[in-house]
Amino acid sequence: MHLWISYVLLSAMSVCIVEMFGSYGEICQRLCACEEREGILTVSCENRGVSSISDISPVYFSQYHLLLTGNLLKKLSANDFVDYKGLTILHLGNNDISEVEAGAFNGLQGLKRLHLNNNKIDALKEEIFFGLESLEYLQIDNNYITHVAPNALSRLQHLEVLILNDNLISSLPVNIFQYVPLTHLDLRGNQLKVLPYSGLLEHMNSVVELQLEENPWNCSCELIALKTWLESISYSALVGDVVCEFPFRLHGRDLDEVSKQELCPRRAIAEYEMPQLPHLSTDAYYRTTPALLPASFTSSAIARSSSRPTKGPRLSRKLKSRPTARISSNKPQNYGQIISYQTKSPCL
Ligand SMILES: *[C@@H]1O[C@H](CO)[C@@H](O)[C@H](O)[C@H]1NC(C)=O
Repeated sequence: MHLWISYVLLSAMSVCIVEMFGSYGEICQRLCACEEREGILTVSCENRGVSSISDISPVYFSQYHLLLTGNLLKKLSANDFVDYKGLTILHLGNNDISEVEAGAFNGLQGLKRLHLNNNKIDALKEEIFFGLESLEYLQIDNNYITHVAPNALSRLQHLEVLILNDNLISSLPVNIFQYVPLTHLDLRGNQLKVLPYSGLLEHMNSVVELQLEENPWNCSCELIALKTWLESISYSALVGDVVCEFPFRLHGRDLDEVSKQELCPRRAIAEYEMPQLPHLSTDAYYRTTPALLPASFTSSAIARSSSRPTKGPRLSRKLKSRPTARISSNKPQNYGQIISYQTKSPCL
């Protein structure tokens, strides 16, 4: 009797399992390996020679991750993912993507993480991320980005991590981060020479990790704003070295060891301390959220930061952040806090 019941139960269960696997969608029977764990389906289609999104098909599952790393994708077209509603993590790294049409990510309102690293994207155009209302994590390192459109990120109101290292960015448009609550920003290995306070640093109040190494920083008067800002955040934030490339007399010097007089020998330093003060708009004074950093630009905060011991704690924090191997593959590496944030993903 007992045996018979167990037998009936078991066969009912196996029928269920077969039906379940079938119901994930055709792609799980053919091209990709699908595994369900804790209510999330992972669809692994890595290195399958996929050259177009039309080579694959959506799965039927309420929440899933799609891994398309290491394929042959060249272009993402408008509405390519429109039927991929339950997608929360999308890996498109290590492909050959050079073109992303406006509306390519339409339909991905629930997408939280997008990986586009190691492709051939040369610009972040205005419409590129339309539809990604929930995006928290965007990785586009190791591409050829030279141009970033002023509104490229403006709809990403939940974006906390932006990984842009190893591109060719020489300047960021004003107000690019205005509506973006960034906590982690990696700009290493680009072509940045300055990073102004007005329209850029002023919107980076929530950043706790910032990587600025390996840019050709021009240590002139314009860098005073960055120096002051870095001093004001350096106790709470992890910041990589800012090493002067220009001018020649400061080549190789670390910005935090260069005095303001050296940066700006002939001009009035005060003019660059608060570049924005004469033009401060009223909304800067009446922010709805308490702003952490503008206070650091008051004279008392500057006095505080210059009177404290500068070297000890900051140095040890820098040492802690090394080695700073970049993310150039999809394997987790020792990469300070950005990697530790990344490794929270069960997909890496
Ligand atoms: C660095 O900045 C100074 C002052 O703005 C400017 O005159 C100089 O041309 C800049 N150097 C480079 C290499 O951009």
